[in-house]
Amino acid sequence: MGDNALMSDVLELVDVSVVRDGRALVDHVSWSVAEGERWVILGPNGAGKTTLLNIASSYLFPTAGAVQILGEKLGGVDVFDLRPRIGMAGIGVADKLPRSQTVLQTVLTAAYGMTASWQESYESVDEDRARAFLDRLGMSDYLDRKFGTLSEGERKRTLIARAMMTDPELLLLDEPAAGLDLGGREDLVRRLGRLARDPYAPSMIMVTHHVEEIPPGFTHVLMIRQGEVLAAGPMESELNSRNLSHCFGLPLVVGRNGERWTAQGLPLK
Ligand SMILES: Nc1ncnc2c1ncn2[C@@H]1O[C@H](COP(=O)(O)OP(=O)(O)OP(=O)(O)O)[C@@H](O)[C@H]1O
Ligand SMILES: [Mg+2]
Repeated sequence: MGDNALMSDVLELVDVSVVRDGRALVDHVSWSVAEGERWVILGPNGAGKTTLLNIASSYLFPTAGAVQILGEKLGGVDVFDLRPRIGMAGIGVADKLPRSQTVLQTVLTAAYGMTASWQESYESVDEDRARAFLDRLGMSDYLDRKFGTLSEGERKRTLIARAMMTDPELLLLDEPAAGLDLGGREDLVRRLGRLARDPYAPSMIMVTHHVEEIPPGFTHVLMIRQGEVLAAGPMESELNSRNLSHCFGLPLVVGRNGERWTAQGLPLK
């Protein structure tokens, strides 16, 4: 994260649409993420959240509109220069990783931009980094375990460590707490909260289905429904009952407990 990064937006979408089979999965979205902001994306199943992350990771080119990632225009720059600057942890990534690799290898291979082979000899400095990230995610006791044998929560934490390995300027998390038990969720929320407060941590964008999973230190929220932005801005002003009810299409009451959030449907009369 260079000092001059303060000048440029982390992510800028201007009137972006993604159209498939005549349907807009993302519909005229304009959105910008500035340095120092940590965003949460909320929206129902199929709203276009993962599609937005795929654009932000430079893997998906929109049908229309302009995208700038870390100061570089998507389409105007070689994506292979851009991709190492972005860390992505999501369900799609786990499927591509060999199940027989150890946890340590799984994280280490990220440094070399590959998902499979374990033939190269790695620099010990890289191994030290991999160990440090795994330690930060509470995975030190699992270094030699095969990735394929991990529980959902252990896998999620390994993927986040892996996404950090290239020292990304932008970290994208797609439902990092999905499938975790209560303890696992709270542990992850705490760790992400710590990361969100670390001035040297990358900019973060996290997709979630539950406001309970929003870590302290996240600053902004984007709500989408059927590909359209319903609300975007500081959590304090935008994460409210009115916006969330509109987003999910039923009456919801948003509550706040210190630095954490809750949402509940109104009881039936
Ligand atoms: N290649 C594609 N062709 C056609 N439709 C697609 C394609 N990829 C995604 N979609 C559709 O686009 C919509 C948005 O998908 P996306 O994965 O972004 O939703 P999401 O908000 O992440 O949902 P979820 O909460 O279920 O993960 C969905 O209706 C999905 O079926
Ligand atoms: Mg999704």
